[in-house]
Amino acid sequence: MSTKAFAALSKPVDVVVMAAGKGTRMRSQKPKVLQALAGRALLGHVLDTALGLGVRDVVVITGHQKEAVQAFATRHERVACVVQEPQLGTGHAVMQALPALQDDGMTLVLSGDVPLTRPETLTALVAMCGGGQMALLTVNLTDPTGYGRILRNADQQVQAIREEKDATPQERAVTEIYSGIMAVPTAWLRAAIAKLGNDNQQGEYYLTDVVAQAVADGLPVQAHCIQNDWEVAGVNSPAQLAALERVYQRHQADAHMQAGVRLADPERFDVRGELTCGTDVEIDVNCVFQGRVSLGDGVRVGANCVIANAHIAAGAVIHPFTHIDGEAAGVTVGEGALIGPFARLRPGANLGREVHVGNFVEIKNSSLADGAKANHLAYLGDAQVGERVNYGAGSITANYDGANKHRTIIEADVHVGSNCVLVAPVTIGAGGTVGGGSTVTKDTPAGALTVARGKQISIPNWQRPSKKK
Ligand code: UD1
Ligand code: CA
Repeated sequence: MSTKAFAALSKPVDVVVMAAGKGTRMRSQKPKVLQALAGRALLGHVLDTALGLGVRDVVVITGHQKEAVQAFATRHERVACVVQEPQLGTGHAVMQALPALQDDGMTLVLSGDVPLTRPETLTALVAMCGGGQMALLTVNLTDPTGYGRILRNADQQVQAIREEKDATPQERAVTEIYSGIMAVPTAWLRAAIAKLGNDNQQGEYYLTDVVAQAVADGLPVQAHCIQNDWEVAGVNSPAQLAALERVYQRHQADAHMQAGVRLADPERFDVRGELTCGTDVEIDVNCVFQGRVSLGDGVRVGANCVIANAHIAAGAVIHPFTHIDGEAAGVTVGEGALIGPFARLRPGANLGREVHVGNFVEIKNSSLADGAKANHLAYLGDAQVGERVNYGAGSITANYDGANKHRTIIEADVHVGSNCVLVAPVTIGAGGTVGGGSTVTKDTPAGALTVARGKQISIPNWQRPSKKK
């Protein structure tokens, strides 16, 4: 990806992002531009792309549900919002942004609901504008219905954009459409926008009318016609959102496979964040990676795993149906560890080398030193577990007294039997053994066997009650 590509340009680039529209067809309480693609708001994708290129200022035009859109947008550096109320068209939208723009640069117009435009495409468009021309991003569509058509003269020079509703049948036959994305000298745009009228079928101020004005003014108009329609595809409905999600995910899958990752099926692989992989990583079907995840060399991930905010070290194996979410605290899995199937690692789980965590084991805010094992049906919360500890099936740390959390320390080489309750705060001394079924409330000495349960008794020849006749 080109980083800060615009910083090298002679003129600064400012961005206007249109995001005032309603998005009726989403049928959602949430503003359209905040709907998630790959776990991130559509508008977030647009802002990331623009900011990644090194633009100067970004102005987001808000309207429908402006509070939510503004709250999201202004969390990004160099992003300001202006309100467009009522929404009288795309030209009217840009008019609201102009007071926030400086005349020395160029304006790149983007749409908050078009998430997948490649940075390289915007770089080429801005280069075409160069601060002295109008550059339109266009694409040929087999079905151009609904879009503004690019009208060219006999010399193939762009003359105007005609909106579908205002077009003649001949004009509607044109398949080259305007994407909604353009780059234009700001000073010229300011003057042109001031002259826009709304004498058209929709009674709107069309931004696209500036094209005919440019031609009349002698400002050169260029079209940058691209091949990939998904780069300019907007989201208007859940179906379109899902279609773009698949495009995005397929690109992630292809990039990882190119880097050597073996995906069982690139169509059943989802990255909602940033995934980095070492060499010889294998990922089975239906895995979801969220937030920041890194997989070391030779890591294998079984089918149906969800892994979020975690670092999995080299050679570890994550068996099927494992759920890992480090949230803010993160999760680390050490080299050669075996996790799952059906394991759950929560924030602050830090597992050393060769640790084994088996089925239905939950670990939260706990460290397990090298070689420790908790293989079945167990809970470790707020615990520090030493090297080679064996933690039995059904055992739990009672770490919460209803008000406060307390820590459990299990020193190296301890064996905790099955079905034990370790009531924190408590320390199990090194090399000790805790008998199955014990409820341990006091610290135990190193090397000792500790049994804390009712003594077993047997009553000989016991007669079970029998039914009265
Ligand atoms: C616009 C273009 C059309 C192009 C199409 C590409 C105009 C007049 N037409 O169509 O040539 O092919 O985009 O998708 O520009 N918006 C506002 N305020 C408004 C109106 C729209 O912020 O008053 C925003 C919308 O939220 C959306 C974007 O502008 O993000 C485009 O609006 P939309 O109505 O989808 O596009 P059209 O006007 O139909
Ligand atoms: Ca419209």
